[in-house]
Amino acid sequence: MLLHRPLQSQVARSAGTFVVFGLFSLGAHAEQAPAMPQSVDDTPFGSEREAVIWRQDELKDLERLLRQLRFDLVNNQDARGAAPRLAELQEKATQAHLLPAFIAGTHGRGSDAKPEIWEEWDDFSAGFVDLEEKVGVLIDAAEQEDYRAATRAFSEVGLSCRSCHRAYRYD
Ligand code: HEC
Repeated sequence: MLLHRPLQSQVARSAGTFVVFGLFSLGAHAEQAPAMPQSVDDTPFGSEREAVIWRQDELKDLERLLRQLRFDLVNNQDARGAAPRLAELQEKATQAHLLPAFIAGTHGRGSDAKPEIWEEWDDFSAGFVDLEEKVGVLIDAAEQEDYRAATRAFSEVGLSCRSCHRAYRYD
């Protein structure tokens, strides 16, 4: 028990260092966003239509997942119960998972994506890095069973979603 507090603050300190370092390296490598997929041939998808439907489904799943996690963590304060869903969130709310479905020019009918996505690819993809960072904070809070921090982290995640939608999605 005596070890508990110093250990926790050590974890918090190193998490802080990680965030600072993360921001620094983000700035340094901002131009190195994953390449824009130019056509379906660059992706695992069979057609542009399939990629659009897939990304819409994934984003809907993310919304559902976050709603369930809010219930797990904020209402029930059940970090253990939330763990599998947190793992799924960490895997799916990422650049690596979502960017391949944004094939160049796949806006227009059947999609709410704005064409600016492909004109401002680095800024758009940085939006997913921002999301990854906010999700990381949420996961840290859950691991420490700090439910107040988790509640704050949910707001931050929500802001990250909305900030990208404001710039790159039609309402
Ligand atoms: C970096 C940009 C970006 C981020 C971050 C982002 N989204 Fe989106 N989102 C989009 C774009 C672009 C679309 C429109 C996709 C389309 O219709 O082709 C979209 C569409 C959606 C949709 C509608 C899907 C449908 O049924 O058509 C939902 C729901 C959604 N996002 C939820 C979220 C949630 C929840 C988060 C945060 C956890 C999030 N998004 C983060 C860019 C983003």
